[in-house]
Amino acid sequence: HAPVDVDVSKLAPGQQTTVVWQGKPVFILRRTPQDMAKLQDASLANALRDPNSKDHQQPAYAENWHRSLTPEYGVYVGVCTHLGCVPSYAPAAAASAPATAEGTATPPGGYACPCHGSKFDLAGRVFKGAPAPYNLPVPPYFMPTPTTIRLG
Ligand code: FES
Repeated sequence: HAPVDVDVSKLAPGQQTTVVWQGKPVFILRRTPQDMAKLQDASLANALRDPNSKDHQQPAYAENWHRSLTPEYGVYVGVCTHLGCVPSYAPAAAASAPATAEGTATPPGGYACPCHGSKFDLAGRVFKGAPAPYNLPVPPYFMPTPTTIRLG
């Protein structure tokens, strides 16, 4: 498989894009300063099944509070660790919006799986109570420039 280069220079804070890598969707998220503060919030950690990602769903360089190379960009395989549906992005800006009829709103910002309701935070970490057993995996990647993410 050839590596996939993603230019993130046009991605605004709070935006995310989905690219295909090795046949799988990969979410690339540019976090806002508020998102980064939230990820370090102890009350968020309490709501997560594996806040420190001890399940090793990430390369060694992503074993940190933001689960990525740099705090600003999150990179996650967009395949629910329950039964493989593709979760949808719910930015933190939507936190004050009312929950949808399907109950898929994710107040702290993150991802919601449309199939059985698993929710993940902005570092791809699964919330307690979800059927998904693990955090979203971090694919192998590096950043050859500050605004290029090379997958694979
Ligand atoms: Fe995502 Fe079941 S596949 S919750």
